[in-house]
Amino acid sequence: MESNIIWHDTAVTKKERRDRNGHGSAVLWFTGLSGSGKSTLANALDRRLTQLGIKSFVLDGDNIRHGLNKDLGFSPEDRKENIRRIGEVAKLFVESGQLVLTAFISPYREDRDQVRALLGQGEFLEIYVRCSLEECERRDPKGLYQRARRGEIPEFTGIHAPYEEPLAPELVVDSQRWTVEESVESILKLCEERQLIQ
Ligand code: PPS
Repeated sequence: MESNIIWHDTAVTKKERRDRNGHGSAVLWFTGLSGSGKSTLANALDRRLTQLGIKSFVLDGDNIRHGLNKDLGFSPEDRKENIRRIGEVAKLFVESGQLVLTAFISPYREDRDQVRALLGQGEFLEIYVRCSLEECERRDPKGLYQRARRGEIPEFTGIHAPYEEPLAPELVVDSQRWTVEESVESILKLCEERQLIQ
């Protein structure tokens, strides 16, 4: 089946899109425990980028699981497929010339590395939103840790399922100590250093 499908290059090149938009495109891949602040940071960054006139968009765990990935649960296999599909969607956003900000726990190194491999050089920036399990559990914004401790949510990351910390992320954001503004500034700086934005 696959051998009968032929890839078409787009008529408009990446460089043309970059010149038109005035900025580059990449995935800013936020990873971290539930409650670490991935969505908060991605959305605050999205707001700042929009104010700067930069085309950006947030793909968020809870939202994607309501639609595209509503057939998937939280077994290692389903999480793998979740991240694989999101990687493909993120790649399309990159091809469209945008900065795509993804906020998924993405607990397995191998799954994150597969998305990295899918994208071109410099198009995947892994941002580890570091926060201790104790602090995430203290925050517990959705009450999920409490429910997981009561045994009501199986395979909850950090409680019964693993989270594999990134070994060489492009950036570590310490959400336990830094304010949201400080974290956003550090990500903007990274984007400047990588010449994605000016
Ligand atoms: S993953 O591991 O990357 O596939 O997860 P993700 O797509 O980011 O979805 C995580 C959100 O789903 C809710 N939730 C759970 N998280 C972890 N483990 C289990 N078992 C689980 N069940 C439901 C939870 O609200 C997560 O959202 P965040 O924003 O991370 O708190």
